[in-house]
Amino acid sequence: MREIENYIEDADLTKEAPPNEPQRQYYFIKKAREYVHQVSEQIGRPLTFCVTTFGCQMNARDSEKLVGILEQIGYVEEPEEEKADFVIFNTCTVRENANMRVYGRLGQLKHQKKENPYRMIGLCGCMMQEPEVVEKLKQKYRYVDLIFGTHNIYKFAELIVTRLESERMVIDIWKDTDKIVEDLPSERKFPFKSGVNIMFGCNNFCSYCIVPYVRGRERSRNPKDILREIEGLVADGVVEVMLLGQNVNSYGKNLETPMTFAELLREIEKIEGLKRIRFMTSHPKDLSDDLIEVMRTSKKICKHLHLPVQSGSTRILQKMNRRYTKEQYLELVRKIKTAVPDISLTTDMIVGFPGETEEDFLETMDIVRQVRYDSAFTFIYSKRTGTPAATMEDQIPEEVVKDRFDRLLKEVQTISSEVCRVHEGTIQSVLVESRNDHDETLVTGRLSNNLLVHFPGDESLIGRIVDVHLNECKGFYYLGEMV
Ligand code: SAH
Ligand code: SF4
Ligand code: F3S
Repeated sequence: MREIENYIEDADLTKEAPPNEPQRQYYFIKKAREYVHQVSEQIGRPLTFCVTTFGCQMNARDSEKLVGILEQIGYVEEPEEEKADFVIFNTCTVRENANMRVYGRLGQLKHQKKENPYRMIGLCGCMMQEPEVVEKLKQKYRYVDLIFGTHNIYKFAELIVTRLESERMVIDIWKDTDKIVEDLPSERKFPFKSGVNIMFGCNNFCSYCIVPYVRGRERSRNPKDILREIEGLVADGVVEVMLLGQNVNSYGKNLETPMTFAELLREIEKIEGLKRIRFMTSHPKDLSDDLIEVMRTSKKICKHLHLPVQSGSTRILQKMNRRYTKEQYLELVRKIKTAVPDISLTTDMIVGFPGETEEDFLETMDIVRQVRYDSAFTFIYSKRTGTPAATMEDQIPEEVVKDRFDRLLKEVQTISSEVCRVHEGTIQSVLVESRNDHDETLVTGRLSNNLLVHFPGDESLIGRIVDVHLNECKGFYYLGEMV
């Protein structure tokens, strides 16, 4: 971070903006800083911002980059959206309800905009990659100041300057990109753990999913850049990293010198001072034996694998374009559980995919009973315009889906509370993450298997890895004490 600050300082505003990245953005950060400073002087207080994130961990990581840029520009964080001068929504469009929430929140901001002359509204993220959304915003939400997408988020400072200089709605959306810009500021939410992008985009085109359309084609970061970033994070106090990609198991295929995900993990493992490695998401079709071997022998990779199954019916899996069968998935699970017996498995499942019969659904129930997931996210199928599944026949009636969803959720919860109980009475190493929200005498820590434990302790423990006796399982978390 220090280095980046120096680079920003070095930018020469008497000249044209440099054409190359990231130098160009350093220039615009410095320029925006001057504007913001001027206004702050005028009104006698700092300008504030609030970034709200919808969607997945990729978006959460992107938001940290937005915050990093805003803080470099001189904006100060304001946790309450209504009070902030600059409100940014980093949006998600994976399911319809994610989408609706954004329009709802935007509506609420409209009248406030009149009350605060310095109010700016920025929208970015996956929803903005859909042309219909941008059209609707242009028509009905004229008071939005800045709209950009997932591919040009690195240009945030430049776009802010464009907006400040033009007084009109600024829209910049790219269809796709092959570019990865390194070395921009970023502000971590937690001092002791961090997400690290290892790849962007997705090439899988599961038939229900909009992500490949809004995040573009798969691009892997250079291993050197990833390792350098993690080394920097560790030097700055990070002990746990979460490697992020829509399908980490296909990491490295498009690099100039190809490298597998397993090979990347071996390199990351060597970083001194790094204690824990997590990753998501793993696509079952690309999970290699080599990866299982790395997980078996690693001292740092957490005992947790998120392995989305989506459906237990081979017929539906085929219509989903997932490229594995129920049997192949179960065989994979068997191999993993044999190699890493104490692994915690979690999953995503979709109920009500077009054409799903009661029989198909019972196959999903069956796979849940066979795998016995530690936890599972269950989703109701949501029709996304532009995806192949949206035009498939036999969309399932709402009542039928709701009934199946309730049955699945009940089964998942019963099993996961049983699975969770298995560790009761053991001693586990735990990364302490926060003070407990409800009881000040307790802290909350995360086990290697991703479950939480609450135990007596104080703030000084946050960020440390300690041994905790799991006294009692409370369904989906534990109560314990330090040993
Ligand atoms: N790349 C990850 C998932 C990203 S989206 C993977 O392949 O596992 C997260 C989850 O949202 C998916 O696993 C899926 O279960 C769910 N999802 C995606 N599109 C959906 C849709 N149209 N309706 C309902 N759930 C969906
Ligand atoms: Fe969507 Fe499939 Fe890509 Fe995951 S792998 S992001 S579900 S298309
Ligand atoms: Fe949503 Fe985009 Fe993530 S659509 S789930 S925020 S990749």
